[in-house]
Amino acid sequence: MKILVTGGAGFIGCNFVHYMLEKHPEDEIVNLDLLTYAGNLESLADVADAKNYHFVKGDIADMEFIDSLFSKEHFDVVVNFAAETHVDRSITDPGVFVRTNVMGTQALLDASRKYGVVRYHQVSTDEVYGDLPLERKDLFFTEETPLHTSSPYSASKAGSDLLVLSYFRTFGLPVTISRCSNNYGAYQFPEKMIPLMFTRAFNDETLPVYGTGENVRDWLHVKDHCAAIDLILRKGREGEVYNIGGHNEKTNLEVIHLILKELNKPESLIRFVEDRKGHDLRYAIDPAKIERELGWKPEYTFETGIRQTIAWYMEHRDWWQHILSGDYQNYFKKMYKI
Ligand code: NAD
Ligand code: DAU
Repeated sequence: MKILVTGGAGFIGCNFVHYMLEKHPEDEIVNLDLLTYAGNLESLADVADAKNYHFVKGDIADMEFIDSLFSKEHFDVVVNFAAETHVDRSITDPGVFVRTNVMGTQALLDASRKYGVVRYHQVSTDEVYGDLPLERKDLFFTEETPLHTSSPYSASKAGSDLLVLSYFRTFGLPVTISRCSNNYGAYQFPEKMIPLMFTRAFNDETLPVYGTGENVRDWLHVKDHCAAIDLILRKGREGEVYNIGGHNEKTNLEVIHLILKELNKPESLIRFVEDRKGHDLRYAIDPAKIERELGWKPEYTFETGIRQTIAWYMEHRDWWQHILSGDYQNYFKKMYKI
């Protein structure tokens, strides 16, 4: 199969490229990424010369470019990771979220339809369901939970999900959607909570905790997410949504305390700061459908996964220090000499 992976230079996308090249060496992967601030080709330096992989720089929302890429490459499958993904940035600048997440998705859907792609997969998020109350531990997001978004980010993701489902119903495009909970693991950009707290604690800087720190996120190891998407591509039913999560609910403070303990840093680094606007209280996925229909199960417990992740950030200081210094953005120029 020839697979277009969009956003493959980002956190989950680069883990997916690594996962697929190792698990399915018979497939060919094309990684299309605009290399925004969140895209980092250093994360893929080890596979840059692989025979069945190549990188293309470009914008998913540029319809002409997308059309010509599809006409040239003849993709069998599209997996769309490309997005603006940081909730805080969506609060200060919503426009780029609508452009990339909604219009970019539409450009990919149109090209997938025109050039006969046999599977279009949309990587979505549990944030499209809104949030759950902290005191109702019995409630979980199922695929039937109504969409009820809080931030411009989640609204743009919900908009793109609805477009994807409309292309199935109206045009018969063979689509699937996955909605995953918070990911953690290697190569996550240090604006997101876990690598942000790790890199700041490592440097003895204060840790900004929004509100009370009691908000709950449902953490899943990025490799478990990649395995689930691979399974959906191969066995998922067209037109269906699959929730992905591993029942690993933690308050933000629980996670931050664990990071401080692993790094042997004092709790006095914690600073409670003004809450995020519209801050979702709790996310919790019910993964029964993907477990039942596709036999997916997560391999990582949070306890082993988070320790391995912290060890990875300890061992790969160059990777995140290049981001903090801005050096990572020179890699593309050095690598491609343009
Ligand atoms: P990320 O921000 O780390 O990476 C996004 C990538 O998309 C970057 O490489 C960026 O350069 C690229 N990109 C942005 N705009 C583009 C455009 N117009 N054209 C081409 N490429 C563009 O994001 P991530 O955390 O890896 O998330 C990947 C996907 O998974 C997103 O769709 C996100 O909504 C979804 N998701 C993320 C999580 C999570 O916890 N991180 C959980 C569930 C779902
Ligand atoms: O649930 C899936 C979503 O998870 C993805 O769709 C998003 O792309 C991804 O960014 C993530 O969204 P969150 O908003 O949950 O992740 P973030 O890392 O930004 O924040 C996690 C929690 O930590 C949240 O409750 C806010 C809190 N936080 C975050 C930052 C950056 C802080 O307390 N302080 C901070 O500085």
